[in-house]
Formats: sequence, C-alpha cells, structure tokens
Amino acid sequence: MTDDLRAILGPKGFTDDPVDMAPWLTDWRGRRTGRARALVSPASTQEAAAVARWAVANRVPIVPQGGNTSMVAGATPSADGDALILSTRRMARIRSISAEDDLLVAEAGVTLQTVHDAAEAAGRRFPLSLAAKGSATVGGLVSTNAGGTQVLRFGPMRALLLGIEAVLPDGSLFEGLSGLRKDNRGYDLRQLFAGAEGTLGIVTAAALRLVPAVAQRVVAWVGLPDAGSALTLLRRLEAATGDAVESFELVPANALALVLAHIPGTRAPLAGEHAWHVLVEATAVSAEPPLGSRIEAALADAAADGVVADAIVAASGAQADALWKLRESISEAERADGVAAKHDVSVPVAAMPGFIASARAATEARFPGTRVIAFGHLGDGNVHFNVRAPAASDGAAWLVGQGDEVSAFVHDLVGAAGGSISAEHGIGQLKLAEFARTAGSARLAAVRAIKAALDPLGIMNPGKLVPPPQA
Ligand code: FAD
Ligand code: MLT
Ligand code: ZN
Repeated sequence: MTDDLRAILGPKGFTDDPVDMAPWLTDWRGRRTGRARALVSPASTQEAAAVARWAVANRVPIVPQGGNTSMVAGATPSADGDALILSTRRMARIRSISAEDDLLVAEAGVTLQTVHDAAEAAGRRFPLSLAAKGSATVGGLVSTNAGGTQVLRFGPMRALLLGIEAVLPDGSLFEGLSGLRKDNRGYDLRQLFAGAEGTLGIVTAAALRLVPAVAQRVVAWVGLPDAGSALTLLRRLEAATGDAVESFELVPANALALVLAHIPGTRAPLAGEHAWHVLVEATAVSAEPPLGSRIEAALADAAADGVVADAIVAASGAQADALWKLRESISEAERADGVAAKHDVSVPVAAMPGFIASARAATEARFPGTRVIAFGHLGDGNVHFNVRAPAASDGAAWLVGQGDEVSAFVHDLVGAAGGSISAEHGIGQLKLAEFARTAGSARLAAVRAIKAALDPLGIMNPGKLVPPPQA
C-alpha cells in the first residue's frame, strides 16, 4: 500500500527498513519505543500535503517528527506499527530573513541553532534558547510551544510566532506566513497550532519574531543559602537593571553534583559548597549605561545582606559559555545518573521557593529513599521537579512500579498550589493520563472538540495530548 508513497517521495524521502527507522522510534528519555509502517521525509510543503492526502485516503495515522527531543514522547509512534513517521528533516531551508521587519521565515525542519546563526548573521537575534538547540526544530518548537531559558523576558515560542504554514489533516494548506504584527481575522490558527503537538496538522514553516542583537551580555553564577534568597536576588537585579535580566536559572547542589560527576570538562564554579545556585544572564541592546557595574553592585549589596553567599561574574564569553554548559548539562547528567520520575511544573513565581521546600519534604517522606532534584526556570515559575529512584532500587522497575503514583502525588501538590502539570514540555503520551485526571471536564471537552473539528479522522499524532473520550 505504501508503494505509491515511495513513488511520490523517492528513495530519499521514504524508508520502511526497520534498521533505518530504529533511531527515530524511541523518545529522548528512552521511556517509549514504538513501531512505524514507514518513515517519510518530504522535501517540500507540497510533498507533505501529498503524504497527508494519502494518509487520509488510506486512514493511516501520521506522527510528525522534528528533532525527536520531546520530553514527553510526543514524537514517538505507538507500538501498533500502524502510523507513518513524517520527518521534517529534509524541509530545512531558511526561506527569508528581514532585519527591517525583524522577521525570519524558516521551514519546519530547521534547527534552533540554525535559526540563531541566521539571525546573528543578519545582525539580529532569535531570543529563545534551550539545551537541545542543536536538534530541536522550528516545527517542534512551535508544536510544543517551547519555553527554554529566556521566557522570563521574551515569553515562550507562541510569543515569538508571527505566522505559520501548515498542512491540515485533509491535505489542504493553511498559508499564514504573513508576519503581520496585527491580524484579527477571527480564530488565530497560528496560536492554535502552537502547543498542538502535531495533533491538528503538520507545521511546514513558521514566521518568527527577531529582536535587536545584544550590545552587552553579563553572565553571573551565584551561590545562595536557599531558593527564597534566589527570588529576592532576582527582584533586586530587576530593580537594578530594569528588564535586562533574561535568564534566571535555579540549580540545586545535587543537580550541580550530577553535572560535575557525569559531564567531562566541567568544574565547580565557586569555591565553597552552596545549597543553591543561580545562573543569571542579563543583556542590553545599547552599550550604555554599563550593565556589569550595576549587576556587580547589586550582588555586593545582596552579599552584604546575606542574600548571596558567593558570586562570580564571567570575565569572558568563554567563561560565560562554561557556566551555561553547567546549567544546560543537567538533563544529560540526570539521564547518565539513572532513573527519575520527571516533572515539568509551574506555580506562581512568588510561591515557587515555598513549593520546592514543601513538595520536596512531602515527596521524600511519602516515598522513602527517593531524592528530589528541583532545577530550572525560577524566573518564570517553572521548575523541573525530578524524583530520583531510591539508590538501592532497580530504577527501571521502580519507575514502572511507583512512577505513576509519584507523579500523581507531585501533580496533586502542584494543583493545590494553583500550578500546571506541564509548564513547557507539553503532554505528549507521558502526561496523557495525568492530563485527563487533572484537566477538568470543560477543558477536556473543548480540547476534544477542537481536535474533532480539525482532525475528524483522528489521523494526526494519535495517542498524544488529547485524552480519548471517557470509556
Ligand atoms: P520533536 O521531539 O520531534 O516533536 C515534539 C512534538 O511536536 C511532537 O508531538 C511532534 O509530533 C510535534 N511536531 C514536531 N514537528 C512538527 C511539525 N513540523 N508539525 C507538527 N507537529 C510537529 N523544552 C522546553 O520547552 N524548554 C527547555 O528548556 C527544554 N530543554 C531541553 C533540553 C534537552 C537536553 C532536551 C533533550 C529537550 C529539551 N526540551 C526543552 C524539550 C524539546 O527540546 C522541546 O519540546 C522541543 O520543542 C522539541 O523540538 P523537536 O524538533 O525535537 O520536536
Ligand atoms: C531543561 O530546562 O533543561 C529542560 O527542560 C530539560 C529537562 O527538563 O530535563
Ligand atoms: Zn526546561
């Protein structure tokens, strides 16, 4: 049946060889492995539309896949082997870039690193970054409404999205790449596709907002006694520098210890031991007034008041990058260290320090032997609250046996704090049951209605984001 797909896409765009498909059948965390009828890699929007029309005619599900860095197994097919994986990696052109309009149009398979490089070459910047920037693609970033380390100042992907081109599940093409800053013609499909996780159609290109290049960049690593002091420091730095702070990443001692243990070439950034650390980045698009002296003064005042225990300000770009490497290696280090029930949660920013302390105590008491690592985007109220399996346990067996109970426990604490069980990674398949359990009937009914309206045959990424109707 797939021979006509092979004819449409040619040998570069089609394989059903299990060996060729294997690298794309397991999610980044290794939590799910699926099977696929074939892996198709259209080279153009037109080819992607042809695949969609074929899939509709043959009632074959499509799993869109970009960099396969999803943290919720959103790009991993189910085990039934029925679906096509549609990879966007051959749709990797920067279609246009305009410094005057602060606009970049990229095809879905372009990586985030490539977007950064193209913006920089045009004297601009794309202000969204995350540790997977070398693999994560524009289509995936849009479809997960990715967050990352600059949300504090620039918002998540949907705040930087000025237009999309998408193949709808019937094979028709939505052309919305205008890049208009204002366009109030009814429902905003661009925003509907942001965070849709491939369940409404295939994003084939996106128009992205650029910002002026940076004239000043200050990166500091700070040691603090507790997470509450970190939030106090954030507010002091904002008072001292206006809106210059764009990243404010919380790193507990146990996360830093994992990085130093598992990531070659890393070393402790400060002399002493500190229970909590923060990586701060502030930027300015003008050379004056100087940013560094204001940050150093605010750090000195905070040290005098006992808010800060120690701090260094990077003296070079290389040193700044080395500090960022410590932060951005945490996921890799955690994966190397073993198994954890991982949570990507948000609560109101002011409540985060108290939430971390109380939720950590409650979780470690309720599940003896577990250890909580809570790190990440404190500035926008999002931490990765990861519960590591008891050291003496068989991690994989513990995760199978206890993981769901641990996650329900953590998510109920998040709910009680008025938070979200998914701050930036989306729902995928790993959070599907918890989304169904916690979302509320009105939200679930609306999500299912939107899905049914745009994908009535349910061929787009089945088993992700949209819980099946109650049995
Ligand atoms: P994939 O993993 O390929 O797919 C993700 C989802 O989007 C799937 O549901 C897929 O079906 C869908 N999709 C992909 N392409 C398309 C398309 N063209 N059309 C329609 N649907 C599509 N995420 C954050 O938000 N913040 C972080 O700080 C962060 N840090 C990370 C660090 C590491 C080390 C790793 C491995 C991941 C991290 N992530 C983070 C998660 C991940 O990188 C993001 O979710 C990213 O947006 C996924 O992009 P991708 O191209 O890999 O998408
Ligand atoms: C991060 O902030 O590093 C990512 O979201 C990845 C993770 O949660 O492990
Ligand atoms: Zn994150």
